[in-house]
Amino acid sequence: MKLLVVGSGGREHAIARKLLESPQVEQVFVAPGNDGMTLDGLEIVNIGISEHSALIDFAKSNDIAWTFIGPDDALAAGIVDDFNQAGLKAFGPTKLAAELEWSKDFAKEIMVKYGVPTAAYGTFSDFEEAKAYIEKQGAPIVVKADGLALGKGVVVAETVEQAVEAAREMLLDNKFGNSGARVVIEEFLDGEEFSLFALVNGDKFYILPTAQDHKRVYDGDKGPNTGGMGAYAPVPHLPQSVIDQSVDSIVKPVLDGMIREGRPYLGVLYAGLILTKDGPKVIEFNSRFGDPETQIILPRLTSDFAQNITDILAGKEPDITWLDAGVTLGVVVASDGYPLAYEKGVALPEKTDGDIITYYAGAKFAENSKALLSNGGRVYMLVTTADSVKAAQDKIYKKLAQQETAGLFYRHDIGSKAL
Ligand code: AMP
Ligand code: GLY
Repeated sequence: MKLLVVGSGGREHAIARKLLESPQVEQVFVAPGNDGMTLDGLEIVNIGISEHSALIDFAKSNDIAWTFIGPDDALAAGIVDDFNQAGLKAFGPTKLAAELEWSKDFAKEIMVKYGVPTAAYGTFSDFEEAKAYIEKQGAPIVVKADGLALGKGVVVAETVEQAVEAAREMLLDNKFGNSGARVVIEEFLDGEEFSLFALVNGDKFYILPTAQDHKRVYDGDKGPNTGGMGAYAPVPHLPQSVIDQSVDSIVKPVLDGMIREGRPYLGVLYAGLILTKDGPKVIEFNSRFGDPETQIILPRLTSDFAQNITDILAGKEPDITWLDAGVTLGVVVASDGYPLAYEKGVALPEKTDGDIITYYAGAKFAENSKALLSNGGRVYMLVTTADSVKAAQDKIYKKLAQQETAGLFYRHDIGSKAL
């Protein structure tokens, strides 16, 4: 079987690499992918994620069994609808089902309608009304651009002034363009944050190990939000009862709600949750795998991933199995300056082998050579599995200390909250 993965980051590297492990899979193509992926035997295809008809032609002429869609913007642009219309199978939600991610206001409406616990909120397109709401609610308070903003359209404001400023930037100064033409302003939820993923087809779903991302750029959760600087799975201090409660109060009702709305969900559902004193509550839904969570979840899968997705697409029960011991932990290495402006073209260390995996994101071969250079904000990620968070940290940080990382940086405390 030949498969196609759409996307170019570390998440897509992890998906494609896992698919290629299957004895039934001859070739995995990634469009557009990145040069680092080719070191793992993946084949990159020079077609962008928004070129739906070129991707469809490629899938048809290469006999692709099905396509796995990585990024949210492709889903929001209706890539799955286009593949389906062309008679091709794709793992990911349709545009209407993916609205759970691409409109925070829609996600809130669904949560309220189907009784899913989430922060109290208001949605505004008028700045004066937003300002009045913020002043009435007080701080801390959270201001979010309604649309997609690469994880950067959220301001957790400690003061009323900061919140008003954030609303002003989004509504009056168009900081996030159309994505910020409406803002969702919501109650600040206090508690431990974790991510819960499910592979879904309609009302059938399969829960993955819990994961914890580290969204802030610097150690100690300081600095602005990023796409994610490191993660680990499972989260050892989350009892099974919290997972069960999240499934019953969040995953089941939202999937049933989507069916009732005529938007049945297929693909990966990603619930970003906060464990408050009143139980788990939703901070956001995403309609795809997380990056960097995928890179630390998929190495724990011990079943045949390609077969699992084939079965889920066909509505059959998949036989999914996981490592049940130890912890998988990964640290993202990013370009100096990320998430703001950064340089490209820094020489990257050798790919690791053995029990430390290197997943590449912003990486590109130098001209006329196979030397990898940085080519993005998040550049690569080292991932390992060990008996404990501490043991995994020791392995990764020892390896990172041996690597030449001038021009790059990473957090030194990934997983430390679990110690
Ligand atoms: P989002 O893009 O919605 O995941 O938000 C980015 C980050 O902002 C989250 O990972 C949280 O750390 C934080 N955040 C978002 N919403 C809230 C909330 N209502 N209360 C507290 N923190 C939040
Ligand atoms: N790790 C956060 C995200 O993928 O949105």
